[in-house]
Amino acid sequence: IVRSSSSAKQSLLRRSFSSSSSSVPERKVAILGAAGGIGQPLALLMKLNPLVSSLSLFDIANTPGVAADVGHINTRSEVVGYMGDDELAKALEGADLVIIPAGVPRKPGMTRDDLFNINAGIVKNLCSAIAKYCPHALVNMISNPVNSTVPIAAEIFKKAGMYDEKKLFGVTTLDVVRAKTFYAGKANVPVAEVNVPVIGGHAGVTILPLFSQATPQANLSSDVLTALTKRTQDGGTEVVEAKAGKGSATLSMAYAGALFADACLKGLNGVPDVVECSYVQSTITELPFFASKVRLGKNGVEEVLDLGPLSDFEKEGLEALKPELKSSIEKGVKFANQ
Ligand code: NAD
Ligand code: LMR
Repeated sequence: IVRSSSSAKQSLLRRSFSSSSSSVPERKVAILGAAGGIGQPLALLMKLNPLVSSLSLFDIANTPGVAADVGHINTRSEVVGYMGDDELAKALEGADLVIIPAGVPRKPGMTRDDLFNINAGIVKNLCSAIAKYCPHALVNMISNPVNSTVPIAAEIFKKAGMYDEKKLFGVTTLDVVRAKTFYAGKANVPVAEVNVPVIGGHAGVTILPLFSQATPQANLSSDVLTALTKRTQDGGTEVVEAKAGKGSATLSMAYAGALFADACLKGLNGVPDVVECSYVQSTITELPFFASKVRLGKNGVEEVLDLGPLSDFEKEGLEALKPELKSSIEKGVKFANQ
């Protein structure tokens, strides 16, 4: 265990800081895979988040350095690094939110499903520990293939008797971030004002941006909308190819992960009308897990929102994604029950 702040002086500083921010609740956030390509910038961004009072950085290696480094930043949270399975319990105890970017990333030519064999086992072990040490925490799953790792987590939690579907989230925020960026470029509108819901799942055609609902509205041709949809679906592959064997999106993912975690914390803290897209247990289609807009609240998912009106192109996209998403869900459920 590496404590970044151990002296009496530090603890005094902490006390004086928390008394000056007494209206903000204490929140412990744990990042599992914190020394990785996503984990490190995500740790930085969560250290900058004033809603976090305790930041727990867990990995199988290299967390002492990351924790010491991030811990020197003069913001609210205390940072502690934990390394190896023996320290996982301590990393998780008392966590309000657990973010999981642990696992291997893609190389060019691979699909996200090609990561299943390694990442499914990693996620299974980490979720068993969450069930034991912080069963009430919200879980933000980043590890791929998200379409399968979220159902794996649900099954592990069910076996442990603590599954609460309101607390399990597949992080699809990067799809929304990309859709906003690409749309703003084509629609020639300020990117900061853009909103685009993205539904379905998080792999290839299962990613379905709803540009018909994008705001500010723009009159884009069907060719442009088709190209925007495809670019959003292939956004991850675009980065994997550009990195040419050195991994997949890390910086944009850390940004997206930090945005979604912030939304979860705001929901926990009772901020009204926090709505983000996420891959959650759902009844809005016949599939048991589906990404759509979700209202976040004090217990996690407060409401899974309707899809709203879809264009004919989006209706076709919705039907086209269902077989792949269904089989990815079933693969995860089967793995967890082996
Ligand atoms: P990375 O290899 O750089 O980092 C992964 C980290 O996980 C490493 O530090 C490794 O030591 C750690 N790790 C491995 N096994 C672990 C375990 N049992 N417990 C704790 N930590 C463990 O990879 P990355 O680029 O950070 O990507 C991580 C995952 O996120 C990949 O599966 C990738 O596909 C996925 N990802 C998802 C999205 C999304 O939108 N949901 C976006 C980008 C990447
Ligand atoms: C992404 O969308 O960038 C991630 O899912 C990583 C990947 O493999 O594409």
